[in-house]
Amino acid sequence: MEQLKKVKVAVIGVGNMGAAHIDVIKTIDNMQVVALCDIDKERADKIAKKADVSVYYDYKTLFKEADIDAVIVATPHYDHTTIGIAALKAGFHLLVEKPISVHKQDCQKLIKAHTNKKQIFAAMFNQRTNPHYKKLKQLIDTNALGKITRINWIITDWFRTESYYKSGGWRATWSGEGGGVLLNQCPHQLDLLTWLFGMPSTVRANIAIGKYHDIEVEDEVTTYLEYPNGATGIFITSTGEAPGTNRFEVTGTMGKVVIEGSDGITFVRNEVPCDEHSLKSSAGFAPPELWNVKIPIDGCGSQHEGILRNFANAIVKGEDLIAPASEGINSVELANAMLYSGMLNKTVTMPLSASGYAKKLKELIATSKPKKEVVKINIDDFEDSF
Ligand SMILES: NC(=O)c1ccc[n+]([C@@H]2O[C@H](COP(=O)([O-])OP(=O)(O)OC[C@H]3O[C@@H](n4cnc5c(N)ncnc54)[C@H](O)[C@@H]3O)[C@@H](O)[C@H]2O)c1
Repeated sequence: MEQLKKVKVAVIGVGNMGAAHIDVIKTIDNMQVVALCDIDKERADKIAKKADVSVYYDYKTLFKEADIDAVIVATPHYDHTTIGIAALKAGFHLLVEKPISVHKQDCQKLIKAHTNKKQIFAAMFNQRTNPHYKKLKQLIDTNALGKITRINWIITDWFRTESYYKSGGWRATWSGEGGGVLLNQCPHQLDLLTWLFGMPSTVRANIAIGKYHDIEVEDEVTTYLEYPNGATGIFITSTGEAPGTNRFEVTGTMGKVVIEGSDGITFVRNEVPCDEHSLKSSAGFAPPELWNVKIPIDGCGSQHEGILRNFANAIVKGEDLIAPASEGINSVELANAMLYSGMLNKTVTMPLSASGYAKKLKELIATSKPKKEVVKINIDDFEDSF
C-alpha cells in the first residue's frame, strides 16, 4: 500500500455521530472527507451539500465508485458487521463506531475479515483518550495499586428520555440495536474495564427490561464480576435515573483510586501493602499508614477528535492505534454475558459461548417489535450526551 499524505475518507451513516465526525475531520490536516453515504436520501443530500462532498445512498456503490482510502462506519449497530466486512474486503482502512458488532459471533466474523494487516482497522473508543483513565491504566500497569482486589463502577448518568428512544426506529429494539444501555451507552465503560483489567472469569447480572421507558431492551443493569486473580467487581448502569452518578473506584493492596467528576483522581495510598501489613502487624484493628495523593488532571482528553486523528496518523505515519478494532470484541462479549446472565438468571462462565448467545439473540429478534412511531428530537445537546 503506497504511503499517503492525506487520507481520503467516506463516512457511512451521517446521523448524529457521523455528522459530528464530518465536522471534526475538518480540523485534521492529514484526513479529508470526500464522500458520504446514508440510506436517508434527504439527510444525506443535506449533509453532503453542507460539507461539499460526493453523496451515495448505498455503500456498495460508494465502494465501487468513490475515490477513497478509508471508511468510517457510523450506522446502527448490526450494519457495522456487514458494511465493515465489505469495506475490509474492498481494501479500505476502516474505523468503526462502537460497539464494533452486536454480538460476539459477529465480532469474530468482522475481525476475521481483517486479513491484510496493512489496512488500519480501528474502533471509536474515544474514552480511552481521557487522561483520568490513562493515568489509572498507568497506576495499574506499574503496580502502583498493588494487587487489584475490587472494582466498583456506578455509571448511571446515561439519562435518556422517552423521545430519545423514539427518535430512531432502530433504537432500543433487539432487531435494530441488539440491546439497550449495555450496547449503546456502556460500550465505552465496558471497553475501559476490559482494557484496564482484562476479562472477568464469571459474570452475574440482573437486567431490567423497559423499567423506565417503553422499550423492549434493558435500561438498568446490576452486575457482579469475578476475576481470575480473585478480584471482584460491581458494575451498575441505568438510563432512567437523574441525577445519575459516574463513580469509578478501584482498590488494590496498595490503596484506593476514585475517579468521580473531571477534576482529577483521588489516590489514597497505603504506605505498605495491606495484605503484608495484615500478616506482620501486632495491632488488631489499625490499617496501614495512609498518604492522600491528589493527581491533578485537566479535562477529559481529545475524545472523538483524538481517535480520528490517531486513525489518520496510523494510516499516514504508522502511529500505533489507541483502540484497535480487534480489542472491540471484549466489550461486546462482556455486554452479551451480562445480558445472557440476566436472561437466564444464572452466572455465566467466561469465555461466553458465542453461538449460545447468538441463538438467544435470534429468539429475541424473532419477537422484536418495530417502532410504530419515530419522532424527531432536538439534538442541540448531542455534544453533552457522551
Ligand atoms: N462514540 C460515541 O461517543 C458515540 C455517540 C453516539 C453514537 N455512537 C454510535 O454511532 C452509531 C450511530 O449512532 P447515531 O446516534 O449517530 O444514530 P443515528 O440514528 O442518529 O444515525 C444513524 C444513521 O445511519 C443511517 N443508516 C442506517 N442504515 C444505513 C446503511 N445501511 N447505510 C448507510 N446509512 C445507514 C441512518 O439513516 C442514520 O442517518 C452507533 O453505532 C452508535 O452507537 C457513538
